[in-house]
Amino acid sequence: MSALPLIIDTDTGSDDAVALLLAAAGGLGDIRAVTTVAGNVPLATGTRNALFSLQVAGRVDIPVHPGCERPMTRPLSTAQQVHGQDGMGDIGLPDPLRPAEERHAVEVLLSSPRGHPGELTLVTLGPLTNLAAALVRDRDLLTRYRHVYCMAGAADLSGNITATAEFNAWADPEAARVVLESATPDKVTWIGWDVSRRDAVMTPADQSRLERLGTPMATFAHRVNRTLADWARDVTGLAGYDLPDPVAMAVALRPELITEQERAHVDIALGDETRGQLIIDRRRSAPPPNLTLVRRVNEAGFKDLLFTTCAGIRQSRHDVREHQ
Ligand code: RIB
Ligand code: CA
Repeated sequence: MSALPLIIDTDTGSDDAVALLLAAAGGLGDIRAVTTVAGNVPLATGTRNALFSLQVAGRVDIPVHPGCERPMTRPLSTAQQVHGQDGMGDIGLPDPLRPAEERHAVEVLLSSPRGHPGELTLVTLGPLTNLAAALVRDRDLLTRYRHVYCMAGAADLSGNITATAEFNAWADPEAARVVLESATPDKVTWIGWDVSRRDAVMTPADQSRLERLGTPMATFAHRVNRTLADWARDVTGLAGYDLPDPVAMAVALRPELITEQERAHVDIALGDETRGQLIIDRRRSAPPPNLTLVRRVNEAGFKDLLFTTCAGIRQSRHDVREHQ
């Protein structure tokens, strides 16, 4: 099987950066374009981070298209307290070699499937502002992709940015609702923060293993996540830092890593108290499901993909079949 043709939408902070390495360097992904959106950091910073992350993966050939610089209706709230002022652990990364593209991200999200109907997989790693803006112009856009994977929400209602909300859903809940109103479970899969908190936590032993690999990608992935590691220790109290975007990307690249999922009707809270909280209706009387929600993944398989990729070892999609 050939590498998976991908479009990646990202608000490139330090965990998005690792997800970009998995897609760009592991041999399983064929990134056709990256689009950026304001979220973890302001748009220009996230765009710079995406360009640099692709450069670390040896892929300066991949175009990066800036998109929306604020949520649909709300002011921008970043997560610089989580990832650092530059979103990458404030370690003083140099400017990327490649400039960003002129073409807007929303145009790219709209036009890419036209040339490749049903062939491209879209993976979103940030607030859903770009995708929602594209859906306002083409309400059937999701059907034109092979599949859409979103790192968004928390299916167990245990949040990171608030007690009950995950950041990507919280940052632009109106955009998330636009996506939910167009989604169908056979086309759209959400991988929530609950998954990364349970099956993608980088323990101190994992962090030491990553650092000891000593390759440029492993060293980069380790260093840019130092601020995230401190935040996880002080705020969420996990046994390390979790990698929500890399585990969402791993699911897109290797769906057989999913060990538990459900189909449900999902809406999102917009009010001040519960902003960004998922409203999951599992009653018999619920409306038809609109999402597939991943609940658990194979932790060992995810970490194998992470360490193998950061070690510079490429896999083929044929290998993926052998894992099934
Ligand atoms: O809540 C985790 C998500 O918010 C991740 O995508 C992280 O990069 C931030 O964007
Ligand atoms: Ca992100």
